[in-house]
Amino acid sequence: PYPLYAELRKTPVARQDDGSYVISTYRELTDILHNPHLSSDTRNLSQPMAGAEGQTTPAFINLDPPEHDRLRRMAMRHFGPPHTPGLLTGLEPVLATTVGGLIDDLADKERIDLVDDFAYPFPVTVICHLLGVPREDEPRFHLWVNDLINSIDYDPKTDPKEKLDKGVQARMDLREYLGGLLAQRHGQPGEDLLSRLANDDGPDGRMTDEEIVSTANLLLIAGHETTVNLITNGMLTLLRHPQVLQRLRGEPDLVVPLVEELLRYEPPVHIIPWRAAYSDITVADTEIRKGSQIMLMLAAGSRDPDRFHDPDRFDPDRRDNQHLGFGSGIHLCFGGPLARRETQIALTELVRRLDGIRLVDDPPPYRRSPILRGPVHLHVERSA
Ligand code: HEM
Repeated sequence: PYPLYAELRKTPVARQDDGSYVISTYRELTDILHNPHLSSDTRNLSQPMAGAEGQTTPAFINLDPPEHDRLRRMAMRHFGPPHTPGLLTGLEPVLATTVGGLIDDLADKERIDLVDDFAYPFPVTVICHLLGVPREDEPRFHLWVNDLINSIDYDPKTDPKEKLDKGVQARMDLREYLGGLLAQRHGQPGEDLLSRLANDDGPDGRMTDEEIVSTANLLLIAGHETTVNLITNGMLTLLRHPQVLQRLRGEPDLVVPLVEELLRYEPPVHIIPWRAAYSDITVADTEIRKGSQIMLMLAAGSRDPDRFHDPDRFDPDRRDNQHLGFGSGIHLCFGGPLARRETQIALTELVRRLDGIRLVDDPPPYRRSPILRGPVHLHVERSA
């Protein structure tokens, strides 16, 4: 039930000793997420964020209007409903085939790691397809993504520096690779996202090559690990609630509200740590000074009893479930429709085809990151 979050919610807007602020209640979070004086550009922080040194042009998740809006709009033109009948429309068979193939490979295994054997390879395969990465390059892509994600929760006290170096190298390799792929796409209109962005003459003009590579990189970083965690948090929650798991077998439509409830109850993104105040902002009678770092405790807001009845109960029948799992305001998750669909198909098929599985460790080992929450491994065994 996250007792720390209950403690934090007692002071909705809390000033820390280092001058930063922590916001943890639903009302204040939604309020500030819609405040035009809130900045996502880490260059606006009075104290630079660790790891931000030497950053090239930020991707639009770390930009403010008007730059943010221009790039998001241009990317959105090609990212499918509800905005345009774009890339997602034709994706259903790809999702079904990818999930089906991964589960086929589990057939003879008695012990399965739902992270390594299923959830990890799934979203990256889908993103490769969206971007138009040729099949033969996919294994390289998977390795880069692995190294990159692994380096994100680097702990200098316990981890060998090699882990960090591998992440830096992977980031460079990935950029170089995407740049090369993009160069081939100019003048060759096609269905994949890189071709579309490279050849688009929409109302906002064209993205530069650097903007396209940054956007592709962002989709990968923002869309991979988060989806992995939603799927594994989902399987863990279902295995802990066997009556809901059974219901899902007989009632496949349940998966839609169930995934919403997961985004509230066990969300992959717990904290957004990179907001800053453009100018002085007042929230819940507390003044936040210009330039201060503001940490948004989204997961605490999604369990706020002033907004959600019985918030620590996992209830897929919950109504009016406006959780903060995808954030809110102008940076609301861009990949929400894709992530939802991927998770709905993954959970439905895993539950349908993996009969009689049980958790090996409960709780499983978790990733160390304070921002993203999800198991590092989720072992299940088939009962005899
Ligand atoms: C933004 C969560 C999947 C692309 C966000 C934000 C959250 C979030 C909380 C808001 C960040 C902020 O306000 O600073 C998640 C979760 C996912 C998921 C929980 C999976 C379950 C995806 C996928 C993609 C994606 C699949 C794309 C392939 C993005 C992008 C942004 C974003 C581009 C930035 C939007 C902007 O700045 O306007 N996501 N996301 N996400 N997400 Fe996701």
